Amino acid sequence: MSDLAAAPVLEARNIARHFGAVTALADASLKLYPREVVGLVGDNGAGKSTLLKILSGIVAPSSGEIVIDGRPVVLKRAQDAMDAGIETVYQDLALVDTMSAYQNVYLGREELSKNPLARLFNLVDDRQMRERAREVLNTLKVKIPSINVSVKGMSGGQRQCLAIARALLWGRRIVILDEPTAALGVRETGQVLEVIRSLREQDVSVIIVSHNMQQLMSVADRITVMRLGRSIATRTVKDTEVNEIVGLITGAIPGDSPEARAAAQVAA
Ligand SMILES: Nc1ncnc2c1ncn2[C@@H]1O[C@H](COP(=O)(O)OP(=O)(O)OP(=O)(O)O)[C@@H](O)[C@H]1O
Ligand SMILES: [Mg+2]
Repeated sequence: MSDLAAAPVLEARNIARHFGAVTALADASLKLYPREVVGLVGDNGAGKSTLLKILSGIVAPSSGEIVIDGRPVVLKRAQDAMDAGIETVYQDLALVDTMSAYQNVYLGREELSKNPLARLFNLVDDRQMRERAREVLNTLKVKIPSINVSVKGMSGGQRQCLAIARALLWGRRIVILDEPTAALGVRETGQVLEVIRSLREQDVSVIIVSHNMQQLMSVADRITVMRLGRSIATRTVKDTEVNEIVGLITGAIPGDSPEARAAAQVAA
């Protein structure tokens, strides 16, 4: 279960981001506690992806603060976010078709052999790579035909699971997923959701964006709602229902901030 009594592992505080005259984010805040899955929802253009990109070091905030384990951090590039323990799984996945499953799990970060001579020549210890890849895939209960076959023939769900498994292999504590099941069928979606649940069991916290409320509520502990670049409300899944979340998204239900209440009154 999530641990709301502990300090958040990740906090976004009052993040804004402008692109020229466009305000993608006006004031977005988010907390992620240990062993929790937070769903991030909002209408198209609400600023969800922009917030995730800021947390992944891909986009710089115009203002606001990111805090990891109580310490403010500046994420200038994707590598800074990874060094801070954040792994982002992108929708297009960036898996390499011609490489095998285990090679993809290690993509770009091959474990160097313990043998100093081999390390000198930058040789990779293939056997150890396979063993650890298999271990991680087993832990997350990722079902793929074999770690040795190329990912070319794999389903979208299997590919998504592999990409998520990478996070665990590299010891990341926070995994960010932007619409991971958008392109998947029902069974594949189920498989990805299972892997997300096992991530939590491995002490990894997850932020997931999805437009599918039922699905999100089956996997998330809390849901943060964004509207027009602002985080307007956060609800605990067990104390809310789809209708309330949808109402918050559309504005039929005002958010928690004074600004959101004022805006709802003007609209009424
Ligand atoms: N690089 C950019 N340049 C200009 N405008 C941008 C840029 N990135 C995002 N925006 C704008 O910022 C707003 C928020 O976009 P964002 O992609 O974060 O929304 P979203 O909540 O992820 O939407 P969706 O549900 O459609 O994925 C949109 O109006 C978008 O057009
Ligand atoms: Mg988006």
